[in-house]
Amino acid sequence: MELDQQIIARGEIPRQFRYEETHIREILVGGRLRWMGDTMPALSPVPLRRHDGAASYAMLGSSPACGEVEARVALDAALEAWDDGDGVWPRMSLEERAGVLYALLERIRPLREPVAMHIMWGVGKAYTEALGEFDRTLEYANETIVAGLELQHRLRQEVSIQQVTGRTELQPIGVALCVGPYNYPFYETITNIFPALLTGNTVIMKAPPRGELVYTSLLPLFDELLPPGVVNVLFGDSSTILPALMRSGHIDVLAFIGTSRVADSILAEHPQPHRLHPILGLEAKNSAIVLPDAPMKLTIAECVKGALAFNGQRCAAIKSIVVQKDIEAEFLEGLREAVAGLQPSMPWNDTRLTPIISAEHAEYLDDLLHDAVKNGAVLLNDDRPERIMTLYPPAILTEVTAAMRISREEQFGPIIPVLRVESTEEAIATLKQSRFGQQLSVFSSSPSLLREIARDTARYVGRININGKCQRGPDHFPFTGRRDSALATVSIEDALLRFSIAAVTATPEIDDNLVLWKEMMNEE
Ligand code: G3H
Repeated sequence: MELDQQIIARGEIPRQFRYEETHIREILVGGRLRWMGDTMPALSPVPLRRHDGAASYAMLGSSPACGEVEARVALDAALEAWDDGDGVWPRMSLEERAGVLYALLERIRPLREPVAMHIMWGVGKAYTEALGEFDRTLEYANETIVAGLELQHRLRQEVSIQQVTGRTELQPIGVALCVGPYNYPFYETITNIFPALLTGNTVIMKAPPRGELVYTSLLPLFDELLPPGVVNVLFGDSSTILPALMRSGHIDVLAFIGTSRVADSILAEHPQPHRLHPILGLEAKNSAIVLPDAPMKLTIAECVKGALAFNGQRCAAIKSIVVQKDIEAEFLEGLREAVAGLQPSMPWNDTRLTPIISAEHAEYLDDLLHDAVKNGAVLLNDDRPERIMTLYPPAILTEVTAAMRISREEQFGPIIPVLRVESTEEAIATLKQSRFGQQLSVFSSSPSLLREIARDTARYVGRININGKCQRGPDHFPFTGRRDSALATVSIEDALLRFSIAAVTATPEIDDNLVLWKEMMNEE
């Protein structure tokens, strides 16, 4: 079907995917506060046909445009609930908090379809993938509770070392600011909130810039199930809200997913940076390295999935392919064929490619393409249709060099740049020189070569995928990066450690102390 024909009128949308406008008129700041101020429109990346035949982006509703004042109110609520560590929530045992969070999860569970609809319309994610995001998030949250209970139990076991008896407990840090991105508006935020809460912190959550309507039905649940001020939710412009919060000096943990540029500017606002625990997931430019003995069919399938799943709008997407000269022609032929059948479609269809996040981002991608072609790159699939609005047909660029912007900038979109190298050493050198260091995919059939590459590149990236695409999951695996790609490691278990401080209780092993200790512990 022609790209233009993909754009249909609102009345033609399959019935089960039609949306009602959602206007969020409350924020959560120590309780639900009715919002009377300015609002921000919630615009979908999905274009719809208007009565006059032109197309415009679906208007999904609106949300509060919070500013510095609301940021301060949220902070005060979070600080009061924290009460310098003496609030109701931080004083509860981890087991008690686990009970509350299990109850919260059970209340979120029935929201699967409405949340997936908000994800689909809000960020243009295919509906089946949006359902997948919901399921993965709930599983992550559930596993977080299980892992937290297990970790606490393990740490609490008494140990005796060098005539000192002691035990350790996870304790909260303070007020955690959680800021998630648009591409996983549910998963990337909730997966920070759950470990933050389980370990006893109080939370200020800034809803993502797109997909924020997901939180419409969560606000009342947070309010009902958690003590006042334990979770606070703000909507609006991050560039106003985040600096205001950080400038206060009262943010103890910053869990942020976004660019290093924004992260640096927010971090610089904190007056006592030594008190801040940053957990940063930043940009990446993951490479796939294709060696001459790569299993070709699998390599192409994984490269296409890695580069184009959710339009390449994943931090873990393959954003550059480095192919060795001897195999380049065969690889490109296969890649071209595989991509030829893939065109953007509406997210309620069974599709990998959907409208990309915004018209502005489509223009940015066009700029990257023009810059590359101007500097000598070749558009391999030059028969690709022209993009229409956010419907962005995938582009394969060959003859790409390090001098082009597409080699340096994280495209976060369906452009696949292919760089040719003469040798494996040259391929590895591209990683060593990169300012990014999240993941790598390497394709080969040689165990010894793969072993060597995995050993050497482990000092450049956080994960090496052998004959497979780059990805964060399974969520029990550490997810991290080096250089400009991340600060701190998260996973279901690691996140619990990032959001907590170990508190040790110990005593020198003299007889009287040991008697006391025993009685102390028995009374628990
Ligand atoms: O956008 C980054 C995601 O955390 C990566 O997860 O590999 O499942 O897309 P994913």
